Amino acid sequence: MPERDMDITPLSPSIGAEISGLDLCDELSPGTVLRLREALLTHGVIFFRDQDLDPGRLMTFAGYFGEAVEYPFVKGLADFPLVVPILKRAEETMNFGGIWHSDTAYLREPPMATILHAKELPPIGGDTLFADMYAAYEALSDGMKALLAPLKALNSSAAPAAAQTRKDRIEESGKDAGALKTEAFHPVVRTHPETGRKALYVNPGHSVRFDAMTPGESAPLLDYLFAHQIRAEFTCRFKWSPGAVAFWDNRCTQHYPLNDYHGHKRLLHRITLKGDVPR
Ligand code: SIN
Repeated sequence: MPERDMDITPLSPSIGAEISGLDLCDELSPGTVLRLREALLTHGVIFFRDQDLDPGRLMTFAGYFGEAVEYPFVKGLADFPLVVPILKRAEETMNFGGIWHSDTAYLREPPMATILHAKELPPIGGDTLFADMYAAYEALSDGMKALLAPLKALNSSAAPAAAQTRKDRIEESGKDAGALKTEAFHPVVRTHPETGRKALYVNPGHSVRFDAMTPGESAPLLDYLFAHQIRAEFTCRFKWSPGAVAFWDNRCTQHYPLNDYHGHKRLLHRITLKGDVPR
């Protein structure tokens, strides 16, 4: 199988790169998969345009990089239960995941990556912002790094602002687990298992307090970190087009889908890939 020629164009100095020259429906050679994985590790999130992926092909593409895992709260497609529709209907006001977060950080083993494929989009709006948690960590002072080094944070699926963003989907197609609260303590600074780099690993959607502290005691420092980690220079913004794919490393990035397209439907298909326990 020949290796594909691809162009990798960074979207910002910190995070994000658009890759052209590949049809993700094709069988990918080991060399191509390796280059894509390297691009993911280098840029945190990679994007592709105009990909004609049905759910089966999306699963095949995801399978080159890892094992697809279940999303705990919302049912997947009937024939492809590991492909979850990320939907906002025209008459709805909340968008799924509409807060800065890394995916399902409340699980013991949060996914290592997420792949999202655009199916139906509003005429304008609904962009997704991404932030680089390596850059956010590296920009902290040595004093702050030393303070954070031993800390763990509790990540909860029941944090109200994030829980609210899944309400419509849980009402429509929730699983039994929809009623359950899922929680996990994770290090505030994690070491990426593939790159060895340190990344800030708290997020406004799920991190509710530090270990052995109350939410009130934790709030001043958490709020500082939440504001710090999304500084504009750590981010890029992706404008979706039909068939576009975003593939992000969930261990060192966060994302924020904008909710600025009321009155229009937005539908994407999502697969998350098995990760490990953050260390
Ligand atoms: C998500 O958080 O997985 C959804 C992102 C998006 O809708 O752009």
